[in-house]
Amino acid sequence: MTKPLADRRVLLIIGGGIAAYKSLDLIRRLRERGASVRPLLTQGAQEFVTPLAAAALAGRPAHTDLFDRADEAEIGHIRLAREADAVVVAPATANLMARMATGHAPDLAATVLLATTLPILIAPAMNVAMWAHPATRRNLATLVADGVRVVGPNAGPMAEAETGAGRMAEPVEIAEALAAMLIEAEEPAGFGVLSGRAVKTTGPLAGRRVLVTSGPTHEPIDPVRFIANRSSGRQGHAIAAAAAEAGAAVTLVSGPVAIPDPPGVTVVRVETAREMLAAVEAALPATIAVFAAAVGDWRPENAQGAKIKKDGAAPPPLALVENPDILATIAGLACGRPDLVVGFAAETDTVLDHAREKIARKGCDLIVANDVSAAGGVMGGTANTVHLIARDGTVETWPRLDKDEVGRRLVARFAALLVR
Ligand code: CTP
Repeated sequence: MTKPLADRRVLLIIGGGIAAYKSLDLIRRLRERGASVRPLLTQGAQEFVTPLAAAALAGRPAHTDLFDRADEAEIGHIRLAREADAVVVAPATANLMARMATGHAPDLAATVLLATTLPILIAPAMNVAMWAHPATRRNLATLVADGVRVVGPNAGPMAEAETGAGRMAEPVEIAEALAAMLIEAEEPAGFGVLSGRAVKTTGPLAGRRVLVTSGPTHEPIDPVRFIANRSSGRQGHAIAAAAAEAGAAVTLVSGPVAIPDPPGVTVVRVETAREMLAAVEAALPATIAVFAAAVGDWRPENAQGAKIKKDGAAPPPLALVENPDILATIAGLACGRPDLVVGFAAETDTVLDHAREKIARKGCDLIVANDVSAAGGVMGGTANTVHLIARDGTVETWPRLDKDEVGRRLVARFAALLVR
């Protein structure tokens, strides 16, 4: 099998953030996989890493400034925007994302991004509050709608001693996301180009936008401890993969999972329920929204900034507060509600009764109920027995199936419901 990155030409735009140092490693990783890398550093990036270091690792000169006469004579910004197979922006700072989303092009990086028709992958990295800010959410939604692919950010400790989503995806993850994007961009038949990236134009969900949540959430107690659950993300990821296979433009908002990203899907990684809600809102509009994540119902009221020490004292009390209900929030939207809102019901007893109650309480159109009691091995396992519950209370029970097959059958059902 040919390697997806072998002999590929990558234009790597390095933005001005502390994560820029990881982009030097990314150059190495991409070259290890056979790609050639042309680095382009914004002015901000040069505060963190030098063009010389990038050039040395890439084995070719690094580009830096819009009005570098020598450079423009050598290779103009339009050629830069053309002579590659893909553009990777890592780290994509809030500032750079804002410039991309608005088409504001005051420097070489933004000019190239405006001029290019190549597939673009961004790896956002920024402070937690900047990532959560409504302006960044709006810009992200615009970029995703424009066809830009997103990898990360990941949650975890940040340079400013804060914790949350904002860390740039690891170089290996970026390389994998790039490989997936390039494979998709190459599909010969049934694909068209929209805003510089290839999209599948055939399949029952061609031209539709699908949003899927998946995995557990982690609700921090302190920087080293959190409340979580046993969800593996397998079912949600399988639905996202099947929707992409059916031609949809899919955004997968995933909690922390240990399984790979599905191919051909834009993945937004989050940690907490509140981050998941923000990412879901940013990913709208969508025709279909599927809420397969096992969202933590509660979070510690006072997550501590420093590790809680035993100090020989009594165990600390763990006061909890309720998390927002993401499914109910989106199902209840007066404006911009997806046409089809699908919830999951994870139950350990009286599965159908609970699920019927849930569909009414949450206001969704369909509930996929499964028995997650330990005996079934559903949570964390690879197979699932599901019941589909419609708004009128009718139930359809499927045989025990592999989660990938459940994903495919569910997507076929969603497509059928849309055309009714
Ligand atoms: N859900 C959500 N946001 C939450 C809790 C749940 O979006 N804060 C979604 C899940 O993704 C799932 C559905 O709601 O689609 C039902 O989740 P489940 O955990 O089964 O139900 P709960 O709302 O937690 O209700 P209960 O605790 O009564 O089981």
